[in-house]
Amino acid sequence: MKKVYIKTFGCQMNMYDSARMGDALGVLGYVKTEVPAEADILLLNTCHIREKASEKLFSEVGRMNEVKQARRAQGLDTLLIVAGCVVQAGGEELLRRAHAVDIAVGPQNYHRLPELVTQFNRKKGRVVVADFPAESKFDFLPETRARGASCFLAVQEGCDHFCSYCVVPYTRGCEYSRPADEILAEARQLVATGAKEIMLLGQNVNGWHGEGARDLGDIIRMMAEIDGLERIRYTTSYPSEMTDNIITAHRDVPQLMPYIHLPIQSGSDTVLKAMNRQYTADQYCEIVDRFRAVRPDIAISSDFIVGFPGETESDFEQTMALVQRVGYASSFSFKFSARPGTPASLMKHQVAEAVKTERLMRLQELLLAQQKAFNLGTIGKTLDVLMVERGKEKGQISGYTPYLQNTHVVADKALLGQIVRVNITGATATSLTGRIVD
Ligand code: SAH
Ligand code: SF4
Ligand code: F3S
Repeated sequence: MKKVYIKTFGCQMNMYDSARMGDALGVLGYVKTEVPAEADILLLNTCHIREKASEKLFSEVGRMNEVKQARRAQGLDTLLIVAGCVVQAGGEELLRRAHAVDIAVGPQNYHRLPELVTQFNRKKGRVVVADFPAESKFDFLPETRARGASCFLAVQEGCDHFCSYCVVPYTRGCEYSRPADEILAEARQLVATGAKEIMLLGQNVNGWHGEGARDLGDIIRMMAEIDGLERIRYTTSYPSEMTDNIITAHRDVPQLMPYIHLPIQSGSDTVLKAMNRQYTADQYCEIVDRFRAVRPDIAISSDFIVGFPGETESDFEQTMALVQRVGYASSFSFKFSARPGTPASLMKHQVAEAVKTERLMRLQELLLAQQKAFNLGTIGKTLDVLMVERGKEKGQISGYTPYLQNTHVVADKALLGQIVRVNITGATATSLTGRIVD
């Protein structure tokens, strides 16, 4: 039996893509393995968002090359394939730097994987495919099956916002929204094969503007009609593209979870302008208020970048004040990373590394305190938890509350894939514990 090992870096869109690549190779008879040494294909799905993410790839290629060489010593051939955003950002350079790589394939060309694999010929040499093809890859990939109770579904890809620091518009291209009927068909397929929760994915998910619906709000409302689909989520949203129809869906659609990831990046209008984010801090807060007006318990999360070029101490203080004002349930925060080809990488007044580190620590301390307070606030409540994983400790399983809090209980693993009522008895900054109630 031929086997493929897939390692994924980066965002949820990459996780979704990895699953689809696994499906595409499955058509050729490859089954998935978690053991690189067993794999005829080693596939790394890469991320280019920050320098650290890209560097990780090269150390991983080194590790995979050792596997490849060890297998060669046993007379086994191994294809090393690199996919994802690093390839789109510069596949040729990647092949120059990483000699062990046989095939490099960008995010818009996954549907061509089977053909690339069957036609690969060591004598003809290595291959890079990183164009933006006229056809949509979604039309060529095999139908998705649910891989568990909680599944991803890509509804939109690419980004037209061109934030001055970000590589995504270059690696994922301009915005493309899948037609509503295609999304609904995939959702039905996922539910028919065991999904209870669907997370709609897009780099700019609330900017969805495809055929067959007015906006993402309509898509959510149509999905709510699918029997057996108990939870709907979506990520990532761009603040100023939020529509009333999406916001009110949080009031009207019980399956739509009370959680919204709404990245602000900075609390300073000067920095937001330099980032080319198309809203002010006040406008962002108004959007948050509109969500809270229809769904007072909604949990809000965000991404932040500290140390953007030109960010002063007072700009940073405004980010801290914004965090106090909004009150987040969870968040991601990063030091600004200068990415090749982006306007921000060329801006004057780059912030010193030590200053970035110090600001990140202060911000993370505040965000973590808010996250802990949010989690402590659920102690004593009884919440629905969708059980998705076996716990690290014996007899434990874990899952997620409507507010996306990771929750551990001692229970039979037969409950995996089920939504159970859990009385929350303990909380830390990162997880909850509780008891199942009948
Ligand atoms: N489309 C999403 C974000 C995708 S990237 C959005 O606009 O919200 C995920 C996060 O990575 C971003 O929200 C941002 O906080 C961070 N990020 C992107 N580029 C970065 C860079 N050059 N340096 C540091 N963080 C960055
Ligand atoms: Fe990047 Fe901005 Fe687009 Fe998000 S909205 S993917 S941060 S360019
Ligand atoms: Fe990374 Fe590409 Fe996602 S750069 S964050 S894998 S869209």
